[in-house]
Amino acid sequence: MNVGGRPFRTVWLEDGCVRMIEQNLLPFRFEIVRMSTWHDTAKAIRDMTVRGAGAIGAAGALGLAQAALQAPDRGFHEAVAQAADGLTRTRPTAQNLFYGVGRVLRAIQAEGDDLRAARRAAEAVGREVADDDAECCRLIGEHGLVLVPDGARVSTHCNAGWLAFVDWGSALSPVYAARRVGRNVHVWVDETRPRGQGARLTAWELGQEGVPHAILPDGATASLMRRGQVDVVIVGSDRIAANGDVANKIGTYASALAARAHGLPFYVAAPTTTIDPGCPEGGAIPIEERSADEVRTVWGWSDEGRFVQVRVAPEGSPAWNPAFDVTPAELIAGIVTERGVVPATPEGIARVARVR
Ligand code: MRU
Repeated sequence: MNVGGRPFRTVWLEDGCVRMIEQNLLPFRFEIVRMSTWHDTAKAIRDMTVRGAGAIGAAGALGLAQAALQAPDRGFHEAVAQAADGLTRTRPTAQNLFYGVGRVLRAIQAEGDDLRAARRAAEAVGREVADDDAECCRLIGEHGLVLVPDGARVSTHCNAGWLAFVDWGSALSPVYAARRVGRNVHVWVDETRPRGQGARLTAWELGQEGVPHAILPDGATASLMRRGQVDVVIVGSDRIAANGDVANKIGTYASALAARAHGLPFYVAAPTTTIDPGCPEGGAIPIEERSADEVRTVWGWSDEGRFVQVRVAPEGSPAWNPAFDVTPAELIAGIVTERGVVPATPEGIARVARVR
């Protein structure tokens, strides 16, 4: 997608380094950073330089490719296994990370002791994971176009746009597709406390693409629905269980409940790499818990052009900071995947889930 009119991806491999957009600086600064080793790439996933299910899946896959390219012959497979373990320990919820790293690891192992072939396969499959992510998201836009007629007012939560994937995005891909066929669309962007992915990232990327939008505090979404100003809700997902329950950024469940109360369709858009067929229901999805300081403080951009952190709560107050929640399948009108729109039911999920 475009930044200042120039096309970019969020993450890619170049000269053995994983390059990525530094998302912690957005929307204040646009910078590309370079990860020289898999350790750097793992750190970038952990500290959310790169974030969003598809983007961290691709970063993990490319990080493992990088590990294979750099590992010495002696102890090659041990070094690769250690990197796969280190990369997947960075964040626990997004299934795409486990999918991306697992796919590259299997390709390396399939070459056995032919280490030249193993390195070649690692690089090729790492790039494939990234390319597939972009292509799946483009197809999600095509399948989801029907949800975004001319004049649609779409509500979304967090950032499930192109910054959260390699390109196009999931929840926002139908919006971008609708714009490209000339439809007018307005997007209501939930701010998404505590890290502000909606206010900082979704608003920024919609602005870069010239999509009309407005940011609202998370608590205002239900009122907006009650006032009749929303036609459809589309959100992304970090992991989808086999029964159709969906984990997504904290606050998604509240949006789904509000949509149900106001008779609005609530859709989830995700590539099938987000489906975890081994996870029977939402209660089994590991939910990342983050530092209480993310709730007690906010980060902002000062007039001097520096990131500053300020306290917004009493220093000693305890806080709870789950990064994700689970929306039960019965609140979901459908799941938009690259293979079509399916119901959030065991049968619907089984119809599109990938066989590993
Ligand atoms: O910023 P993150 O990595 O914590 O958030 C993950 C997400 O991007 C969202 O939950 C998003 O809505 C899912 S779609 C990638």
